[in-house]
Amino acid sequence: MRLKPLKSDVIIKLSEICVGFDDEKILNNINLDIYNKSFATLLGPSGCGKTTTLRIIGGFEKPTSGHLYFEGVNITNLPPYKRNVNTVFQKYALFPHLNVYENIAFGLKIKKFSKKEISLKVGEMLELVNLVPFDKRSIDRLSGGQQQRVAIARALVNSPKVLLLDEPLGALDLKLRKDMQAELKRIQQSLEITFIYVTHDQEEALTMSDIVIVMNQGEIQQIGTPLDIYNEPENAFVADFIGESNIIDGTMKEDFLVNFLGNNFVCVDGGFSPDEPVDVVIRPEDVKVLDDTTMKLTGIVKSIIFKGVHYEMVVDSCGYSWLIHSTVPQEPGKMIGLEIAPNDIHIMRKKEG
Ligand SMILES: Nc1ncnc2c1ncn2[C@@H]1O[C@H](COP(=O)(O)OP(=O)(O)OP(=O)(O)O)[C@@H](O)[C@H]1O
Ligand SMILES: [Mg+2]
Repeated sequence: MRLKPLKSDVIIKLSEICVGFDDEKILNNINLDIYNKSFATLLGPSGCGKTTTLRIIGGFEKPTSGHLYFEGVNITNLPPYKRNVNTVFQKYALFPHLNVYENIAFGLKIKKFSKKEISLKVGEMLELVNLVPFDKRSIDRLSGGQQQRVAIARALVNSPKVLLLDEPLGALDLKLRKDMQAELKRIQQSLEITFIYVTHDQEEALTMSDIVIVMNQGEIQQIGTPLDIYNEPENAFVADFIGESNIIDGTMKEDFLVNFLGNNFVCVDGGFSPDEPVDVVIRPEDVKVLDDTTMKLTGIVKSIIFKGVHYEMVVDSCGYSWLIHSTVPQEPGKMIGLEIAPNDIHIMRKKEG
């Protein structure tokens, strides 16, 4: 089991980082600690500021205000090439006129390493990304996945302490994407370096990361382990973005008692003001479907589709359309009972505004 990192293990620290373009706030007060040797993922919808955050860390963008620290040293004004950080971009930007070996060796040649050193380091990298037999191959005769491996090897060859990866698997098909996810995780663990990964794919973030940073509209919504983020989303945005959820307007009656869709339900959350309006978040797989129509909540099955592992149903109940996952199919038009366990009822404070 992984031990919780110590505070002193912070390798990258963003402190009160703001970025604005033409009066528009792109990043708003980002505070973030990235721990050494961790796999941290920035996750959020398109335009939320993931790439901008990565560009700040890489040094390609200057914050309007705030500071960036590397191992405790303020590097806000340090140029990119002086940072112990490398980037893999979504478009791999390989040199088309160079072969695999030459692409990986390029940075080392510029740095005037000897032929022998270059051959040793490139050899290690080819092995790491499983491309040993392809060293003489020209770039345009490689598959997408192989090109991606070259890009990763090229970024890793000068041993950065931190690797930034901006949606590196975006161009690959699903099967290859899955393979490369496992490959990247293996590489990160075997090299014991820090990966800061960007994706808008929830599943990718949850399967690969030690820590997930959920962003929306230039702000961090939640920082946590994949399990924290999935099981204890801090607000309705995170809950909905991480997995399809039922989000229903409710009122907190008292501690551990919430009212929604005209009924009171026992829940496990407290600490709200009496009659405080809340978002009630319930995952589709947490709604139990029963034949018993004397339940507090009943509904009519509107539609059902088979999703490979489970059935996905839409059920109308008290004017709300529930999304429900179940392994037992139900006939459209049928009246059913719905049951939700208290600890599957997640109560979220309504966001101001
Ligand atoms: N150089 C720039 N000038 C003006 N606006 C910019 C600039 N770069 C980014 N933006 C804006 O900043 C916002 C955040 O962009 P960013 O590229 O960080 O988003 P992202 O989360 O990476 O999105 P995606 O998932 O689509 O790549 C967007 O609204 C974008 O239009
Ligand atoms: Mg981006």
